Amino acid sequence: MGETSAVKQSSMTSPLEVLWDWGYEIEQDKLDKLYEKAKRDQWNASVDIDWSVGVDPGGKILDESRMAFLQLDFFKKLSASQREDLNAHYSAYILSQILHGEQGALMVAGQLVSEVPDYEAKLYSASQAMDEARHVEVFGKYIRKLDKIYPVTEPLYEILQEILEAEKWQAKTVGMQVMIEGLALASFINVRASTGCSLLRQLLEYVTKDEARHVAFGNLYLTESISQMHPDDRAEIEDFTLMMTRKFLAWRRGPDGMKGFEWVLEDVGIDPADFVAALHVELSNGFKMDATPGSVHSFRGLIMPGIIRAGLVSDRVRPGYEEAKIKLFSDVTLLEELEASGQVA
Ligand SMILES: [Fe+2]
Ligand SMILES: [Fe+2]
Repeated sequence: MGETSAVKQSSMTSPLEVLWDWGYEIEQDKLDKLYEKAKRDQWNASVDIDWSVGVDPGGKILDESRMAFLQLDFFKKLSASQREDLNAHYSAYILSQILHGEQGALMVAGQLVSEVPDYEAKLYSASQAMDEARHVEVFGKYIRKLDKIYPVTEPLYEILQEILEAEKWQAKTVGMQVMIEGLALASFINVRASTGCSLLRQLLEYVTKDEARHVAFGNLYLTESISQMHPDDRAEIEDFTLMMTRKFLAWRRGPDGMKGFEWVLEDVGIDPADFVAALHVELSNGFKMDATPGSVHSFRGLIMPGIIRAGLVSDRVRPGYEEAKIKLFSDVTLLEELEASGQVA
């Protein structure tokens, strides 16, 4: 996957446990509250968003100052129109990865309807599936107005595959609601605040609200469930979480994050080999590739605190985090705010 834009469909196989809840009783009040919020805040993407607003590809879709490698001299030397062209394609490429993540979230939510053991969690997951359907709808529509849909990159596809193929719902929830949606939520907040495109800002306002609920649900339900798991099952989720955290950080902070960027370069008429050569020179001259803004914040404020509070960094797996130099951020302030209100301030 990844380099083949011609691929229209692909498949993977997932074990899916189907659990019935014959009690039909609400036992977890906090989950029920999130479900009530989800029903109250449903929106219709074709009616509530004003699609007549145009998208100016030359407008500031994503803020250049937030894109670490656009600060390279290699790009600063481009003409204004070349930079605009690059920004438009690059924005479409990033938003396309978000679109693919949304499709993954849609399918994970569908899986969770079957796999979660509790009635109120099934209702909630069904509402999340509807939310994700809307997100796929709006991002797909927006990107086509801007440019074209770029293929999924290999590292993102691998992460989504791990989540979709995981056997236990707790693993899916760590991967999707805690990690991918934690990242998405922080990115949406950042992009909404910095984009020059009013249509994108408009749709992100709706999507961010939904995403905040998803992150709150995943973290609350996971924390509750992990505390009651059999030690063997729990160890399995701990290992999965460590493996995913490593993959996630390699994707966000390492060279993996550049995968697929060559498609953008080719589309603006830059030879990717020239870019790589210039990158090496500038890196050796001291250019620092800082982490994508927003990702640090999500990892520090939502993802790692969620993983730790759920009890997934046991003494058994802690050395694995230390060895990989993963910082164990544990301040749950932001997460708890989110869970209490189901929204972002
Ligand atoms: Fe979503
Ligand atoms: Fe979501």
